[in-house]
Amino acid sequence: MKTIFSGIQPSGTLTLGNYLGAMKHFVDLQDEQKCYFCIVDEHAITMPQDRLKLRENIKSLAALYLASGIDPNKSTLFIQSEVPAHTQLGWMLQCVSYIGELERMTQFKDKSAGGKEGVSSGLLTYPPLMASDILLYKTDIVPVGEDQKQHLELTRNLAQRFNNKFNDIFTVPEVSIPKVGARIMSLQEPTKKMSKSDSNQKAFISMLDDEKKIMKKVKSAVTDSDGIVKYDKENKPGVANLLTIYSICAGVSIEDLEIKYEGKGYGEFKQDVAEAVIETLKPIQERYHELINSEELDDTLDKGAEQASYEANKMLRKAKKAMGLGRVKKKK
Ligand code: TYM
Repeated sequence: MKTIFSGIQPSGTLTLGNYLGAMKHFVDLQDEQKCYFCIVDEHAITMPQDRLKLRENIKSLAALYLASGIDPNKSTLFIQSEVPAHTQLGWMLQCVSYIGELERMTQFKDKSAGGKEGVSSGLLTYPPLMASDILLYKTDIVPVGEDQKQHLELTRNLAQRFNNKFNDIFTVPEVSIPKVGARIMSLQEPTKKMSKSDSNQKAFISMLDDEKKIMKKVKSAVTDSDGIVKYDKENKPGVANLLTIYSICAGVSIEDLEIKYEGKGYGEFKQDVAEAVIETLKPIQERYHELINSEELDDTLDKGAEQASYEANKMLRKAKKAMGLGRVKKKK
């Protein structure tokens, strides 16, 4: 049995990109593997957050995990800040990371492009915290979307560096990126990734958008003037993105979809894409509304934090010993 770990930031309502690139795959893993899924709230505060909104987003993300099919009897679902070992090992791994390698992270470069004066230092030191999340659980595989690949590479480097320098305690994890859907693009600028923090609401589909909104957003998605439904990422990024979304939601191959829409324009195609998305999200949304204010949600998160803490503290003790932190008590 392999150990799986993944996390999602509660920095806004999840997008269809988060679902198709990550969450959807988590559900398939939990039958065979030991799974940990985390609401990484300490990552979210690397950017300014409204306190009440953050609290709401944390619960909402927990409910979405469960509504998507995460089964608390099979997987451990928990909130990062409720397991203090994450920031403790995170600090230790910061001391093993080099400023140069952290500054080379694409996400840091993007988010600090407007100048470093007003950007939190947490944004720079976020990858060692992410490494800590993963390494605390002897994780073998980390399922993520493509944008996290560089952070995973760094996690592997930090694990190896720590193992060589101190003691061989960490499992070096593998990344798992889906073949289709690893990078769902913005509906308005299809060369940019779909992101929950996009200021243009029309650029992303939220997992909680109602039918009308989804239909409207898909219909106003940027395509091109060809009128040909064909997968060509370079020259037709908008259509390629819609084909990807449709293919995963409906479970039909892109080739079959190209054949189905041969000679037809974008009108009918977009209508069907929207319907496939609605059908995918509908059962999740129904379950979400049952869960969001339930006691079941709190009980699951309590149990998850307890289970995760137990595992994480074992590894934290090993890491502290390896680095020489704290003391060894004399036997009486
Ligand atoms: P976050 O919260 O930005 O995204 C959560 C997951 O969704 C994937 N994703 C996408 N996949 C396809 N298309 C998109 N447009 C898209 N946008 C997001 C992300 O790749 C990710 O898998 N640093 C992480 C959270 C994290 C983590 C971890 C992940 C913290 N600790 C440990 C794995 C393991 C992040 O910000 O993800």
